[in-house]
Amino acid sequence: MPNTRILATGRAVPDRVVTNAELAEKIDTSDEWIRQRTGIEQRHWIAVGESGSGLALKASERALAKAGIPASDLDAIVYATSTPDHFAPGGGVYLQRDLNVGTIPALDIRTQCSGFVYGLSLADCYIKSGMYRTVLVVGAEVQSTAMDVSDRGRNTAVIFADGAGAAVVQACDEAAGSEILAWDLHSEGAHAELLWVDAPGSVYHPRNQAEHIDSKGYLSMDGKEVFKHAVTRMPESVQAVLDKGGKSTEDLTLLIPHQANLRISEMVQKRLGLRDDQVYNNIQRYGNTTSATVPIALDECLEQGLIQRGDLIALTAFGSGFLWGSALIRY
Ligand code: COA
Repeated sequence: MPNTRILATGRAVPDRVVTNAELAEKIDTSDEWIRQRTGIEQRHWIAVGESGSGLALKASERALAKAGIPASDLDAIVYATSTPDHFAPGGGVYLQRDLNVGTIPALDIRTQCSGFVYGLSLADCYIKSGMYRTVLVVGAEVQSTAMDVSDRGRNTAVIFADGAGAAVVQACDEAAGSEILAWDLHSEGAHAELLWVDAPGSVYHPRNQAEHIDSKGYLSMDGKEVFKHAVTRMPESVQAVLDKGGKSTEDLTLLIPHQANLRISEMVQKRLGLRDDQVYNNIQRYGNTTSATVPIALDECLEQGLIQRGDLIALTAFGSGFLWGSALIRY
């Protein structure tokens, strides 16, 4: 059975920077409140004409360039998004089209903030089963276009943002020294409505109703409940992959947690007993980009030389669903 390794990563965010001060002009909030409660200082939102699949394309092209392989080497695309460009089809086919690759499969997955971790697990299975050799895994989101930028939406509008990250994942042999050592994946649909976008949904007759745009069309979140579950599930899940891989927290070079909220990451770090230099955070500059947070952070860590080949790293994520999970990787 081959091993799986991440060959290279890429990221892309829109040029438009939205500061806390800009939000405070439209919403009853303040820079101080947002920094204190979330750690966020700024985020990126798309301009008219930009799209999630467009960000995914840029991130993917950068990842392919760093991997030093042409897009034609890809065997499959796994595209994680909770905010596809259109209700149907999903975003993967637009990326397949725009990368100008052959008729390779492009699979969308809808696991929200855990999207990249789930996507990577699929790529790992494709590769280990021998079905595919090179898989592109993408997390791409545009949250800003359905954000309630008003006092009513202030607990989400200050948090969520746009961006994309991509990883080229490829089969390798044992001599390469890289491998994905363990997985831990979960869901708990009992809490589906604690962080969700109600409409449009095919449960409604008809699916598209004008009045839903304002009443059910925005991301809605019970922040306190989400917080409570996130700070329990992520440490639990990281511990699970460490146990499965026969490793301990001291063996970890770096944990890359989903960038939900800086206070969540700090509590995850504390509960696992990790040092500051063992946990990477960049939510200050990007906000919460849902499925894109983990690959964007991974790309920054690689660029800054914080991760070298052979280092032990863990990825963990938690979000809407609830869905959560972790990967333990010998990079
Ligand atoms: N600016 C100012 N005040 C705000 C605000 C904002 N942007 N958002 C909410 N508030 C207010 C609330 O209206 C509430 O006011 P009230 O006491 O007069 O009713 C007060 O702040 C406290 O609200 P609460 O929701 O209890 O705050 P909190 O301390 O839980 O912080 C979050 C709110 C959203 C920052 C916090 O719950 C959180 O981070 N949750 C996790 C969110 C997350 O990570 N989601 C992504 C998971 S993938």
